[in-house]
Amino acid sequence: MPDAIATPERLYQSVNFADKLAKIHDHWQPRVMAEMNDYQFKIVKILGDFLWHDHPDTDETFIVLDGVLRIDLRDGHVLVRAGEMFVVPRGVEHKPYAEREVQMMLIEPRGVVNTGNAGGDMTAEVEALTKALTTTGIPPGRRRKRAGNVIDL
Ligand code: NI
Repeated sequence: MPDAIATPERLYQSVNFADKLAKIHDHWQPRVMAEMNDYQFKIVKILGDFLWHDHPDTDETFIVLDGVLRIDLRDGHVLVRAGEMFVVPRGVEHKPYAEREVQMMLIEPRGVVNTGNAGGDMTAEVEALTKALTTTGIPPGRRRKRAGNVIDL
């Protein structure tokens, strides 16, 4: 009898922001890189001016990985630098701005539209992107969890 039965060891994969960012070559197109319950972690590069909008049903979290993000609010603005985050409360109008390219992560519930109630040309089809980035091709709502529910980007 062997002393111990060898158990195959599973190698779990962490999400590396730099690896994900290296695959993004456009601006203002958030990609879902992971989900937690009903929340999505989106990675995006931005440059220049966005449009005024708000999200009537949810707060929105910005975590800056590189660069300096400026978020204009109707009564002021905030500068969010690499290693910093800011939460825009639900229903508060905001306009992100990046004088130079900013790389950042957004955290918000599944299905939130980047332009909120404003619509227009800058509206990203995040759900389509999510499907395109999912190796299994299973829509987000029906995807079964893998470790950390990581979506390949
Ligand atoms: Ni927003």
